Amino acid sequence: AVDINKLRDLTGFITLDPGYKNSGSCTSEITFLDGELGILRYRGYSIEDLAEKASFPEVSYLLIFGELPTAQQLAQFDADIKKHTLVNEEMKNIIDGFPKTAHPMGVLSALTSALTAFNPKAVNVENEKEMYEAICKTIAKFLVIATWTYRKTMGYPLNYYDNTQGYVENFMQLMFKLPTGPYAANPIIVNALDKLFILHGDHEQNCSTSTVRMVGSSHAGLFASISAGVSALWGPLHGGANQAVLEMLEEINKDGGDTDKFMAKAKDKNDPFRLMGFGHRVYKNFDPRARIIKKAAKEVLETLGVEDPILEIAKKLEAAALEDEYFKSRNLYPNVDFYSGIIYRALGIPTDMFTVMFAIGRLPGWIAQWKEMRENKEPIGRPRQIYTGHPLRDFKSNK
Ligand code: ACO
Repeated sequence: AVDINKLRDLTGFITLDPGYKNSGSCTSEITFLDGELGILRYRGYSIEDLAEKASFPEVSYLLIFGELPTAQQLAQFDADIKKHTLVNEEMKNIIDGFPKTAHPMGVLSALTSALTAFNPKAVNVENEKEMYEAICKTIAKFLVIATWTYRKTMGYPLNYYDNTQGYVENFMQLMFKLPTGPYAANPIIVNALDKLFILHGDHEQNCSTSTVRMVGSSHAGLFASISAGVSALWGPLHGGANQAVLEMLEEINKDGGDTDKFMAKAKDKNDPFRLMGFGHRVYKNFDPRARIIKKAAKEVLETLGVEDPILEIAKKLEAAALEDEYFKSRNLYPNVDFYSGIIYRALGIPTDMFTVMFAIGRLPGWIAQWKEMRENKEPIGRPRQIYTGHPLRDFKSNK
């Protein structure tokens, strides 16, 4: 057999694969994905089963530790997370330094990185115990600071985690509880969010996850790696798409609701406009998460009795794209982001928080991938390039 490393050293041979469309960066036991058949599994369990039968904390445990937890393991995990739900008060000074108008994803990335300063032990994990503690700290504190980014934009006082409640209930009260009155999360909303977080839990080597692994491969700590993942997720071609979907729907609505006009724009190669929430790098048939979420969206909207012109536009656009030759021939189907934004809007979550919602769901996946990368003792990530610049030039000043 040919040793590819030796061959490269001898010949200078490098594979060029921009966007890594066909390059594996690692072996992984976490998530199985078949884009042609529309299959997604975490640790061997189908996403359909998990979304229907498991809870988000249970799926988080599964992703990170490889097996579904027993009742006792889950209770222990929950208790260990709750040991770390207080965030250092000095973190509030950092939040205060941001303008109110700052995008929550930018603030979240900065705050996650800043956690390193207050939890130096979570930086250098040298053994299993330190790894476990870093994981529990990250899960506990990330949820709190994620919701703080919203409270900041609203000018509301910051809330604290309530250790008597579950993780998703805590998300709701951290976000929406006001000092002026009691707060009880609607169980229908909690259930829908639980499902949404599960669907976003992991997606193998996507842009943000690859970033987390890449940063972690230099042995930067968990907070620093997750912070980089948040930044990668922010982009509109990745997690930022759910915000972009809603903004697009709002734009169509403001323009009079003519979906045909926007379909034509999306197909026009001279127009940079793309139908946000359609298409996927790996799902070239359908996105299995989109099916589950479409059903959940319908249930939530019916239960909450939401009537919204934006949702009508979404339905029209979806129906038109499914019938359209351009979209059909390129296998462009609605992806998970097309529907998640619709649910978030119905739940009263502001548009620029949508990608933060994605980040909360993706956190266990990032952690699981980072842990696997460290445990597999992967080498530092360092791609090569094909140099296309000038050959050697004589220096002659342009001054
Ligand atoms: N609207 C119109 N045309 C599109 C769209 C779209 N949303 N997506 C792809 N196309 C077209 C491209 O122009 C290209 O056409 P061509 O063959 O005539 O040149 C063809 O379909 C293939 O598209 P690529 O960009 O090569 O596909 P790629 O796999 O690189 O990109 C991506 C996938 C980035 C998701 C793309 O479909 C897109 O931009 N979609 C909109 C943004 C979006 O919804 N992102 C969320 C992804 S899901 C997630 O991150 C959870």
